[in-house]
Amino acid sequence: MLAELDSIKSDALIVIEAINDDSGLEEARVGFLGKKGRLTAASAGMRDVPKDQKKDVGQKLNEVRTAITAALDEKGAALTATRDTAAFASIDATLPSRSLPQGGLHPLTHVLNEAVSILRRMGFALAEGPEIETEWHCFDALNTPEDHPARNESDTFYFENGKLLRTHTSSVQIRTMEKEVPPVRIIAPGSAFRRDEIDATHLSAFHQLEGLYVDKKVTLADLKGTLEYFFRELFGSKTEVRFRPHFFPFTEPSFEVDLKLHATGKAAKWIEIAGCGIVDPAVFSEVSGKRGDLAYDPEDISGFAFGMGLDRLAMIMYGIPDLRLLIENDVRFLGQFTK
Ligand code: DAH
Repeated sequence: MLAELDSIKSDALIVIEAINDDSGLEEARVGFLGKKGRLTAASAGMRDVPKDQKKDVGQKLNEVRTAITAALDEKGAALTATRDTAAFASIDATLPSRSLPQGGLHPLTHVLNEAVSILRRMGFALAEGPEIETEWHCFDALNTPEDHPARNESDTFYFENGKLLRTHTSSVQIRTMEKEVPPVRIIAPGSAFRRDEIDATHLSAFHQLEGLYVDKKVTLADLKGTLEYFFRELFGSKTEVRFRPHFFPFTEPSFEVDLKLHATGKAAKWIEIAGCGIVDPAVFSEVSGKRGDLAYDPEDISGFAFGMGLDRLAMIMYGIPDLRLLIENDVRFLGQFTK
């Protein structure tokens, strides 16, 4: 019996050594260790082994089974390793990796960052207010009468509870003055909403940048100097800036600001870019009524305000012909602005 077990073992090791594929491995496992395998058959002979030899034969049986199992496992691992090596042979791990596409900032974000950084250098702090506004903050406090066209249902998105989507960022002027006392020097970039017919120059959601400066003795000269400097920083020192008298309910006097850019190639022409003016004392009176103090006493302080369309700034800065390009998220368009 012991001799038979030894010969099963040596036969098995020879067979396993010669195996070179998975099916051969499986065949050998079944042939030696399977239900009808040689070792299984041999172990049935244990019954006939005299008692005093059972222990030795049992040990031998275990030893042979362990040896065959180990040989099968080792062969299995070797076959897997050979297969892996072959699969990796066609891969050159020293090649540099393919570069991944990198995202970039939206053109509006570029313009916004640039505008904000110029104004912050001039001492303006960032302020914000809600996009869902009360009529009071959006209109009444800004001296805009009930019958003003901007308050019309056909121009403004109203909610059933009487609130509205702010039609301009000027409401942030009021929000700021409710909380802070002068001197106040803020800019408020943000979204604004109007029920406009959508075309190349109008979207129902757009972006503005508001500014407000309130202090003792703020004058028109401060306003002009601030905006001239701002636009020349943004578009170049040769940029011409023109103030044209206009009307806004919340400023008096009011102006529209036009720019003439001296960019290469194009014939320079005036383009309208912003609204501005000296804060109307009626606005300070409204704010004072709400605050219940004299911090914004129109006899004591004065201020200037301005507002401009950021989308329009982006169109000018990058020569974008159609506003809708800014919201379509076409990577062929957006990819041109990644720096
Ligand atoms: N809110 C105005 C608009 O949306 C722009 C504007 C004009 C803002 C004059 C101002 C200002 O602060 O002083 O058309």
